Amino acid sequence: MALIAQASIQAVLDACDMLEVVAPYTTLKKSGANYMGRCPFHGEKTPSFSVDPAQKLYYCFGCGEGGNVFTFMEKKEGLEFADAVRTLADKYGVSLQYEESSPEQERRRETRDRLLALLDQAAAYYSRYLQESNSAAGARKYLAGRGFHEPVINEYRLGFSPASGASLIKAATAKGYENSELMAAGLILERDGRSRDRFRGRLMFPFTDHRGRVLGFGARVLDDSKPKYLNSPDSDLYHKTNLVFGLGNARASITKEDRVFIVEGYTDVLALHQAGIANAVASMGTALTEHQLREISRFTRNIFLAFDADTAGQAAMLRALEIARRLNLSVRVIQLPQGRDPADLALAVNGAASFSDLADHAPSLLEYQVQSTLAASGLESSQGRVRAFSALKQVLSEASSSIERDEQLRIIADRLRLSPENVAYLMESAPLNDKEQDGGTRQRVLSHEEIAERSFLSMCLANPGEARRYLQLMNDAHFTTETSRSAFNWIKERLVSGKDESGIDAARVPMDSKAREILPELVIRSRTEESAPQALPEYYFRLCEAELSRRISEIKSKFGDSMDEDTGDKGIGDAGLKELYRLETRRREILQVIQSGSWGSA
Ligand code: CTP
Ligand code: MN
Repeated sequence: MALIAQASIQAVLDACDMLEVVAPYTTLKKSGANYMGRCPFHGEKTPSFSVDPAQKLYYCFGCGEGGNVFTFMEKKEGLEFADAVRTLADKYGVSLQYEESSPEQERRRETRDRLLALLDQAAAYYSRYLQESNSAAGARKYLAGRGFHEPVINEYRLGFSPASGASLIKAATAKGYENSELMAAGLILERDGRSRDRFRGRLMFPFTDHRGRVLGFGARVLDDSKPKYLNSPDSDLYHKTNLVFGLGNARASITKEDRVFIVEGYTDVLALHQAGIANAVASMGTALTEHQLREISRFTRNIFLAFDADTAGQAAMLRALEIARRLNLSVRVIQLPQGRDPADLALAVNGAASFSDLADHAPSLLEYQVQSTLAASGLESSQGRVRAFSALKQVLSEASSSIERDEQLRIIADRLRLSPENVAYLMESAPLNDKEQDGGTRQRVLSHEEIAERSFLSMCLANPGEARRYLQLMNDAHFTTETSRSAFNWIKERLVSGKDESGIDAARVPMDSKAREILPELVIRSRTEESAPQALPEYYFRLCEAELSRRISEIKSKFGDSMDEDTGDKGIGDAGLKELYRLETRRREILQVIQSGSWGSA
């Protein structure tokens, strides 16, 4: 498919009615210039989802989801960008123009389409062989013995590869495919100038993408021989670390349930699906990657990890937790009985019920980390307790709410037999964040600095005239994350150049800009939040103060933290000291301005 022309994307944007697009998912009521309703991205009782029909933006004050009419369709319908544009183009009768593609692009697309067709036919071939061939009787018996029934076998297009050397090659050649294509699709091996089928006598699990297209295979032996699985080699179409097994089959259910179970094995996915739990996918072995989690997070932010209880599984879980936190996903951990995997559980009597029960009691990521840190630290010895203490400080600093943190603190204090003073110390070292969400969705914990930066920027949008003079005085150093920096630059460029008196049309932010992540939030907040007239200068000075503090501590940390003002000659040198003194003085002045509220003078 060729690229949709930029002008057509704009035409669709102009034509569509944001209120109408959102209407099937929540009821909106007018509130000022915007509309409010209950958030379709997280469960809540009081409306915090805001829609700006003019700019075609949405933002939820509860869970932080925000974007434009296209991202709304992508998220709610599980579509890719181009499909979201196409869907809305259909709905509003806009005919799309496509970018001209070069002959080179055309050729590449053709090659790719042929490989995809080849892989799809290979899947069909293996599947038919499993269903019909006498030689596949053992494979059918194996599947039946493990409790897998026909519907799930068909749904996942399981197959069996003939044991003889070149059956697939023959079938594919007869259909007009070249050896080079079979090679590129990872279906054959070449040795001593002779080709043979890569997969022989194995149970075939097609790897499909989220649209159900076959990209490769995982192939399991029927006995205990090694290797247990043989996977397609990485190719232009398929990278093991990018693919999520079963996403195409699970996505509707993931969207509907608004949660996903991530397991380790293909067989776990099948077993859960058969037991009626269709929102399960597998990580293709233990290493869940950031790419895979991003892919999954297009459909839900509520992740349940159900990895095997062995050490490899547990280590993989902790790595996954790190990534999930970075991506701002809510993660719960399903704890399986030792030595059992989700497939064992799901295929047992009442399997679905007992799995759901485990899910309902799954601890949050933080609880799980506290538990496993305590379990791993050897609390009998004082050394073990010191170890646990310092590990937990880290864990707790990542708590998403003070309520959650306080609860964990009580458990820890109890388990570590700590005095209340030590508990208080622990408490102090963990930053506060009091924002509790209703529903299960969790916002990434923003630093105080980033919260202030966002508030400032949204006030700038609310008062473009006044904002100009502050923005002119600021630079990248006033902002602590790439996202807020990018938004700052974008807004500054618009407002300072004076082109845009009316504010910002956030729908026009370039696709690849980081600013895109928060502009919907900023624009909507700028229209809904009331702020006192002095708030803008106050925030400006707060950002200046924070920036100075960062510079000061950077200088200090360079010369060791034992340095103080009396004995401050630890190699910092005269110039360094002068600079430090200058910054400190400036910072104190700013703090005074903030405290007295006399903005004009500084
Ligand atoms: N895996 C792999 N290669 C191996 C072993 C495992 O790629 N040699 C990956 C597969 O994605 C597999 C997952 O690790 O699905 C989990 O491994 P395991 O639990 O051993 O396999 P299951 O799929 O659960 O297989 P079964 O239940 O049939 O033993
Ligand atoms: Mn397993």
